[in-house]
Amino acid sequence: MELIATKVCKKGDIGVHDNLFGGLMLCWIDEAALSMATSVCHTPNMVTLKINEVLFKSPVKVNNQIKIYGSVESVGNTSITLAIEARRFSVYTHEETIVCSTKIVFVRIDDDGRAIPISKSKKAKIMESIES
Ligand SMILES: CC(C)(COP(=O)(O)OP(=O)(O)OC[C@H]1O[C@@H](n2cnc3c(N)ncnc32)[C@H](O)[C@@H]1OP(=O)(O)O)[C@@H](O)C(=O)NCCC(=O)NCCS
Repeated sequence: MELIATKVCKKGDIGVHDNLFGGLMLCWIDEAALSMATSVCHTPNMVTLKINEVLFKSPVKVNNQIKIYGSVESVGNTSITLAIEARRFSVYTHEETIVCSTKIVFVRIDDDGRAIPISKSKKAKIMESIES
């Protein structure tokens, strides 16, 4: 998996129980994953189609650093599926603990918002990188 974003949990990010608000984590994950999907597919025109089950495995507190990692799980004709992990990073030990994981599907769209194929050459490169 490659590092695709780093976030810091601030006071305003907290929900009840002094934990990071889960909806904000979803926003961070979606944004980071979109950035990866558009970069890998060489187009800015992609939308989130599906976010699979999201498991909030351990809490995030104020001042925690969160590193978001992604990898390409599969690529289809118009869609790409990424595996995403958010990990709490200790600046003291550099230890990383998974706080949240999911899979997200993005679809390439045209100017009218309809699904269109990911470029064949980009798809071939993506397949190559998955297999290696
Ligand atoms: C993305 C969108 C254009 C796709 O339109 P669509 O008519 O459903 O497109 P298709 O049926 O041709 O499917 C497109 C791709 O999604 C895949 N797909 C469809 N339903 C799926 C599902 N439930 N799970 C996984 N993949 C799915 C299809 O297999 C296809 O991938 P492929 O071409 O790689 O095989 C349309 O659903 C849309 O505009 N959604 C809103 C997107 C959005 O606004 N996102 C922001 C969040 S609010």
